[in-house]
Amino acid sequence: MTLDPTTAERRALVTGATAGIGAAFARRLAADGWHLVLVARDAARLSEMATELGSRHGRAVEILSADLSTDDGCATVEQRLASDSPVHLLVNNAGISLNKPFLRSTAEDEARLLRLNVHAVMRLTLAALRPMTERRDGAVINVSSVAGFGAVMPGSTYSASKAWVTNFSDSVGQSARPFGVRVMALCPGYTRTEFHERAGINMSKTPEWLWLRAEDVVDDALRDLRKGKLVSIPAWKYKVAVAGLRHAPIRLLQAVARDTRSRIGRDER
Ligand SMILES: NC(=O)c1ccc[n+]([C@@H]2O[C@H](COP(=O)([O-])OP(=O)(O)OC[C@H]3O[C@@H](n4cnc5c(N)ncnc54)[C@H](OP(=O)(O)O)[C@@H]3O)[C@@H](O)[C@H]2O)c1
Repeated sequence: MTLDPTTAERRALVTGATAGIGAAFARRLAADGWHLVLVARDAARLSEMATELGSRHGRAVEILSADLSTDDGCATVEQRLASDSPVHLLVNNAGISLNKPFLRSTAEDEARLLRLNVHAVMRLTLAALRPMTERRDGAVINVSSVAGFGAVMPGSTYSASKAWVTNFSDSVGQSARPFGVRVMALCPGYTRTEFHERAGINMSKTPEWLWLRAEDVVDDALRDLRKGKLVSIPAWKYKVAVAGLRHAPIRLLQAVARDTRSRIGRDER
């Protein structure tokens, strides 16, 4: 596949495109010459983003207001992916965390997290891969997290949802490769966005040096996609952290996990 839109008309669909990592993807791709389809719930914010990108870069920017934690929202985006106007790059970026540990959570909140972080990613990847593999051209980036490499926040089910995204993308990426189509899991560490504030997670004690910029995460992601990686971990400090998560003794991991407990509530088990 070509990631160079100067050689042909290329279109990218980005979910969660109005804030954080998704907005950084949309800005970078528009600057690189991609036409865009932007997806989020807030229609007014989507319009502002489309106006900004359309006037600055002169690319066609479509917007789709859809709640991807619902069947209707997923169906709206699936229809766009199946339409005659092809999407060459899908960025499944929209995702949430919860601020309550599992023992104090509700089935409704947990289902909402799974519908957005897992179910929507599965549906949209499948909808995108059908036309991409037929054309033998296209790529999917599924935004996962370093949190998916271990149960580093006791009681948080976010890590489990991202473990699924990483494993899913790696596995499906291997089966799409012979068709000339790439699927890659993008696993950032802490990134300055609206994410933690939206979830009500207090990050005030997180040291400054751990934070990444969304623009740098996107740079690394696009570089790794070009290289054909199945799993991308932006920034050396997080590559080292993931190696630690994979190989460190379980007792050390449990000690680190105890330290993160206060972020999502003190009384969970
Ligand atoms: N920030 C981090 O530290 C970090 C680290 C690792 C991985 N990640 C992952 O990176 C991805 C992006 O997170 P972010 O930090 O950029 O978050 P963010 O700043 O909170 O932005 C979230 C975006 O998703 C959209 N969104 C939220 N719920 C949605 C829904 N139900 N349907 C459709 N769109 C929805 C939001 O727009 P609307 O509210 O208008 O829908 C917004 O555009 C997520 O998958 C997250 O898990 C983040």
